Amino acid sequence: MLELKDVTKIYNPGSVTEMCLFEKFNLSIEKGEFLSIVGSNGSGKTSLLNIICGSIPIEGGEVRIGKRSIDKMKEFKRYRKIGRVYQNPAMGTCPNLTLLENMSLAENKGRPFGLGRAINKSRSNYYREQLSVLGLGLENKLYDKVGSLSGGQRQAAALIMSTLTPIDFLILDEHTAALDPKTAELIMQLTDELIKAKKLTAMMVTHNLRYAVEYGNRIIMMDNGNIVFEKAGAEKEALCVEDVLKIFTDISIECGN
Ligand SMILES: Nc1ncnc2c1ncn2[C@@H]1O[C@H](COP(=O)(O)OP(=O)(O)OP(=O)(O)O)[C@@H](O)[C@H]1O
Ligand SMILES: [Mg+2]
Repeated sequence: MLELKDVTKIYNPGSVTEMCLFEKFNLSIEKGEFLSIVGSNGSGKTSLLNIICGSIPIEGGEVRIGKRSIDKMKEFKRYRKIGRVYQNPAMGTCPNLTLLENMSLAENKGRPFGLGRAINKSRSNYYREQLSVLGLGLENKLYDKVGSLSGGQRQAAALIMSTLTPIDFLILDEHTAALDPKTAELIMQLTDELIKAKKLTAMMVTHNLRYAVEYGNRIIMMDNGNIVFEKAGAEKEALCVEDVLKIFTDISIECGN
């Protein structure tokens, strides 16, 4: 189980721009759960993921995996068990390296040696196979610099890369937002298949309410650093997009947006 216990997050503490985003925030995610996270811009979704990955410090509380606190664990160590696809297609890949080099690096994540040894051309067929599932022709671009790929192609490759190592957690931050509707659909289905096949515990932030409703076994809605709506299991199954949209709209009206 992944658990955030009484987490407090304050941005720019002690300065005029101080902003308390989370105050005694609690969330538990069971092993094997696929959690969809929705919520308005600035509600704290990416910050929540950053806290779990150790990318930003917290001012109070604890993050635990099982009974063990991971607060002292450095970000790179956490990534041994966490795969992450970022909101920004430019993150998570190295633009000046080829797709092959990026995939090799991703597969060697957490191992104690550099790029020289990480490049393993005999793996190229395996990478080709993995990429071909995307149906984007990326299998023919192994020797292209990743910086020359489109944002969507990069994002799709990043998803494959994030699951090349044996991870327990998959963290997705609007990973289909940069994709055209057809590719987004394909990537979403593939994501679901990967999560099931590898028995991952997944958290997916999305602004696509249909994906949030259709995929995963639990949904939460965030607003201003709080969880304002939550459904799991059969109750989530019964949800439809209109229900979630109505709650979303009602909250926005309350906030005056
Ligand atoms: N590095 C930072 N320094 C100061 N404030 C920050 C920082 N990162 C985020 N914030 C603030 O924290 C709040 C939550 O931001 P966050 O990026 O977590 O939102 P989000 O729910 O992911 O939004 P979006 O849907 O737009 O991606 C916002 O008010 C934002 O301005
Ligand atoms: Mg965000």
